Amino acid sequence: MTHHQHNTDWTHKYPKPPSLAELGLEDREQDPKRKSGAALTKPKKFRFQLLHDWLTETFEPCRVGDIGGAKGLLAHMLIRSGWEATVIDPYPQTLPTKYKDLKTGKRILLKDQENVPNIPQAFQPEMAQDFDLLLGLHAHGCNLHILNGAAKYGCHFVLMPCCVIDEPKTPPSGIHWLPWLVDQAKKNAFDTEFFKLNFKGQNIGFYGQNPNNRYQKPTAK
Ligand SMILES: C[S@@+](CC[C@H](N)C(=O)[O-])C[C@H]1O[C@@H](n2cnc3c(N)ncnc32)[C@H](O)[C@@H]1O
Repeated sequence: MTHHQHNTDWTHKYPKPPSLAELGLEDREQDPKRKSGAALTKPKKFRFQLLHDWLTETFEPCRVGDIGGAKGLLAHMLIRSGWEATVIDPYPQTLPTKYKDLKTGKRILLKDQENVPNIPQAFQPEMAQDFDLLLGLHAHGCNLHILNGAAKYGCHFVLMPCCVIDEPKTPPSGIHWLPWLVDQAKKNAFDTEFFKLNFKGQNIGFYGQNPNNRYQKPTAK
């Protein structure tokens, strides 16, 4: 089995990101009150639901490339919400058989024949021309290509980077991957903003809206 086939088990470690305060995000860990209900930190397996909700609150439905999208659950959820979503992953996998709707608490069953459109290839910047928004959730080998493709082809992007794996360039020692990627985005003329989702693990992301986006959609709400 290759390294890539292993990586949906989430046993790998990611480097510790800068503190929330350093990123200008609220540091909930400092909150003296005990969390309960919806505020409770969710297990990592719910990252797709949480990112889906954030995306649909932040952008209008559009053509999104879920790069490194693996099983395609996030893409599936976005399609259910009226988006056009495609997984681009050299190791695409089949959808899980079920997932939990966090809003209703109900289990959603997926039928065997259900699947999402996918391009079973490593992402290249030129592929960006078919999308309005490029998304990389804990994706490998493609974070820099996403930023370059988004800049060149007028796309918005959303990145939640974790490990530095198979990237064409890496940060110099002492510079963390996340702020270094933000700098790369800024060099590509993006204004960036951080966001944080409420799940365990690397839950900080950043996004940029391309001022040269040729589409009316997506526009940030
Ligand atoms: C850690 S997994 C994350 C999968 C999924 N987004 C998630 O959050 O569970 C990294 C994914 O990146 C994919 N990947 C590796 N190299 C890639 C490349 N060059 N272009 C696109 N995807 C790549 C792997 O096959 C794997 O599915």
